[in-house]
Amino acid sequence: MGVGISLSPLASAVAREGGVGIVSSACLDRLVSKRENRKFNTYEATCQEISLAKAAGGSAGINIMVALVRDYESSVRGALDAGADMIISGAGLPLNLPAIQRPKDTALVPIVSSARAFDLICKKWERLGYRPDAVVLEGPLAGGHLGFKIEQIDLESNKLENLLPPVKDMAIKYGDIPVIVAGGIYTHADIVRFLAMGADGVQMGTRFLATEESSAPPQYKEAVLLAKEEDIIVAHKPGSPCGLPFRVIKQSPMYVSATKRLRPPKCDKGYVLLKDAEGKFTRCPAKESNEECFCICNGLLSSAGYNPDKEEPLFTVGTNAARVDRIVPVKTLMDELAGRILVSTA
Ligand SMILES: Cc1cc2nc3c(=O)[nH]c(=O)nc-3n(C[C@H](O)[C@H](O)[C@H](O)COP(=O)(O)O)c2cc1C
Ligand code: SF4
Repeated sequence: MGVGISLSPLASAVAREGGVGIVSSACLDRLVSKRENRKFNTYEATCQEISLAKAAGGSAGINIMVALVRDYESSVRGALDAGADMIISGAGLPLNLPAIQRPKDTALVPIVSSARAFDLICKKWERLGYRPDAVVLEGPLAGGHLGFKIEQIDLESNKLENLLPPVKDMAIKYGDIPVIVAGGIYTHADIVRFLAMGADGVQMGTRFLATEESSAPPQYKEAVLLAKEEDIIVAHKPGSPCGLPFRVIKQSPMYVSATKRLRPPKCDKGYVLLKDAEGKFTRCPAKESNEECFCICNGLLSSAGYNPDKEEPLFTVGTNAARVDRIVPVKTLMDELAGRILVSTA
């Protein structure tokens, strides 16, 4: 989970409990440099975080968003060189992931929200001589960026249970690729239900945001505990400069300010910059105007406690954040999700 939430403390706790702990690559250079009190570049910070996530045993990997174009290759190389068990990549189509550097024992796992996107990736990767080691199918209830057009988020056909059969068929066609479902999975019963429908695994975000080991500062966890169903919205105009719908708690200070256009456009982080005609990373819609986009780099860094005195926080959550009523240790959550203990949930 992005920007300073899923770091090595959460990933290693999940790995110790038998899951695959996933670190987020987003802004790791700044976050690790601040924590370790010396300068790390993206490659070094990625290596460091993967090593720490794996240090206590178990499997750990990394999520690298395609939208982080400038740092994408350095993040991939760092993760591969540090021996990540898995690279999961979405927020765009990771068409070139296998071409960056040949993985040894690292699984390459694209995230898709449709069978069509999965087909495109399999075809492109086939030409690169690589078959996805698994695929994450993320439905519209997830936190963070969503792989749907804003008007398609609520369609019946886009419910995770309806997206699964065509993606599963495609996975079988390309050689029995395991399908990991994500978005709105909350209980042990949800996991059992999706496995019975043909999923091979689940990816979960929001419940792990609300753990003791997640690096979200107390203010973020408090916002999750307070969030009601009607508080959780999909931001779009103002929305993410990455051009994808983005789920937030509507009271997030940066979102509120964005709706009133209070923050003047200013770019000082640059993680989602795109190349200009000369091949330089200079373009971001949030840099040009505050009409349609918020500055996602600063909003998410602030919510992670990086620069809260300078910028306002932006809290992203999945739809199910409305059900979260306690912060628990990862062990308790994993015991509950594995069905080892019974817990009543809202
Ligand atoms: C706080 C937060 C940050 C997230 N950041 C990322 C990210 O950086 N990259 C990504 O691909 N998905 C991200 N996601 C999506 C999760 O990886 C996951 O697929 C999704 O939230 C699953 O739905 P759930 O939250 O209902 O379990 C994030 C989700 C949350 C809640
Ligand atoms: S304007 Fe903001 S969101 Fe865009 S690249 Fe710069 S710091 Fe990031």
